[in-house]
Amino acid sequence: MGFVVAIDGPAASGKGTLARRIAETFGFHHLDTGLTYRAVAKALLDGNVPLDDEAAAARTALEVEFAGLDRAVLAAHGIGEAASKVAVMPSVRQALVEAQRRFAARQPGAVLDGRDIGTVVCPDADIKLYVVAAPPVRARRRHSEMQAAGSTASYDDVLADLKRRDARDMNRDDSPLRPADDAHLLDTSEMDIETAFRAARALIEAAR
Ligand code: DC
Repeated sequence: MGFVVAIDGPAASGKGTLARRIAETFGFHHLDTGLTYRAVAKALLDGNVPLDDEAAAARTALEVEFAGLDRAVLAAHGIGEAASKVAVMPSVRQALVEAQRRFAARQPGAVLDGRDIGTVVCPDADIKLYVVAAPPVRARRRHSEMQAAGSTASYDDVLADLKRRDARDMNRDDSPLRPADDAHLLDTSEMDIETAFRAARALIEAAR
């Protein structure tokens, strides 16, 4: 086992950017675990498999190739919606969590970001961060990203969508989104990414 950094938080909290910067800075491997759920969802959508077919979803989860995961290919809104639906299925989670744990063991260290890294995937992580931001702040960030990519979705729709996604992630029975007891809370509502990164880096250096 190398050094493990667990980062959790809701959609558009800034955890992905933070995870990438930490991995680059310390020379660690990085896994965006949301992409593993998105890859299962995309395979089902592409194969016209109903999203409530748990057996098919679990088989797909066992075959997900972590090396080729690409957010550009998996970013579509419909894939995110479908991902949050397959993410409630225990057999899908079990298959993905096992593979995520193997990834976390890579030397010299790994940064994993998601919803249940500090609570379920890597409960013994060397450092746990829980990244939050107020819903309107997250919606504003997500909305500008989407506009930059040519989307015409309204801010209100983006905000409503984020709240729906939060509710699904926080209220499911298996591995709901919540901070681990020993997680450090980072509220990025009024913090730019550079400030959040410096705070995270200081915590990691202290833990090393
Ligand atoms: O972070 P994201 O939007 O790419 O994640 C897509 C969905 O996957 C999200 O609705 C929740 C789910 N997910 C999860 O249940 N557990 C994780 N560790 C990561 C993502």
